[in-house]
Amino acid sequence: MAETAYHHGGAFPHTRMRRNRRAQWSRRLIAENRLGVDDLIWPLFVIDGDGRREPVASMPGVERLSCDLLVETIAEAADLGLPAVALFPYVAPERKTPDAREAVNPDNLICRAVRTVKAVYPDMGVICDVALDPFNSDGHDGLVRDGVILNDETVDLLCRQAVVQAQAGCDIIAPSDMMDGRVGAIRSALDGAGLTDVQILAYAAKFASAFYGPFRDAVGSSGALKGDKKTYQMDPGNGDEALREVALDIAEGADMVMVKPGLPYLDVVWRVKEAFGVPTFAYHVSGEYAMWKAAANHGWLDNDRALLESLIGFKRAGADGILTYAAVEAARLLAKG
Ligand code: PBG
Repeated sequence: MAETAYHHGGAFPHTRMRRNRRAQWSRRLIAENRLGVDDLIWPLFVIDGDGRREPVASMPGVERLSCDLLVETIAEAADLGLPAVALFPYVAPERKTPDAREAVNPDNLICRAVRTVKAVYPDMGVICDVALDPFNSDGHDGLVRDGVILNDETVDLLCRQAVVQAQAGCDIIAPSDMMDGRVGAIRSALDGAGLTDVQILAYAAKFASAFYGPFRDAVGSSGALKGDKKTYQMDPGNGDEALREVALDIAEGADMVMVKPGLPYLDVVWRVKEAFGVPTFAYHVSGEYAMWKAAANHGWLDNDRALLESLIGFKRAGADGILTYAAVEAARLLAKG
């Protein structure tokens, strides 16, 4: 082939990747992914009482809040434009039973919190977990008999839990329990109760992770938990199985799916988004938050830069949104520009 003056192949020195990076305006032009406030969901912990605020020791900056303070706290999230919050209850130990019956009490803490938040912020999306662990004296997401986590009996209860939460005003029901068949059963239960517009965000690929430790402190289930969750949550080494889980949840009617934890599982986020193209969320979980905050508080990491870099990583992997305890912190940084 004849050499031409303009054909030199792609190699150095003709190609210099640094040219595009030289000036800030140019870096802005070539940016492939952006993080915005629309991408962030803020998980919050609720406790009984009035004017109560309890720090979660393993999650610096995170507190359990009573409903009145929850409403005050969400004001900033609403001002910053966060689309949604996810609420989790800290259930007093005396209300936890082996049949987890408090989960289906329409006046339980989580339902009261949802009603309170929706009354003040009707335009804020409210997401609730569906799983028995905060209410179960065994600390498991399902009912336990003779050391076995029961699937079908648990699903019946999860359906009732979903319906009471949706009736309280919850917009998105998020089953985090990893029982088989629960998404379809919950969809039918919601529809049967006339709640056809309530969305389902399935914790579809949820791994049996050490990174949930601080969350279990926050909701007070770590002391109660007997054994581990490996008979229902996934093996951290499995990626193909995650795709099967997601396929099933979509077939059963999930409106959105989630991968959890986040940063150690971004390959799974990528594969899910590529394979299904459905709204895909990832959970930057409590242990990831704890690692980042611990290092930042020691001065070992730059707090703000490490946060924004972690969150843009989720976007690059294809996540449509991120659940993060740092949602408001991130939104403040984004607002500053
Ligand atoms: C409960 C639930 C867990 C999380 C969300 N929902 C913990 C678990 O499955 O043990 C973890 C969230 C986090 O670590 O931030 N089913």
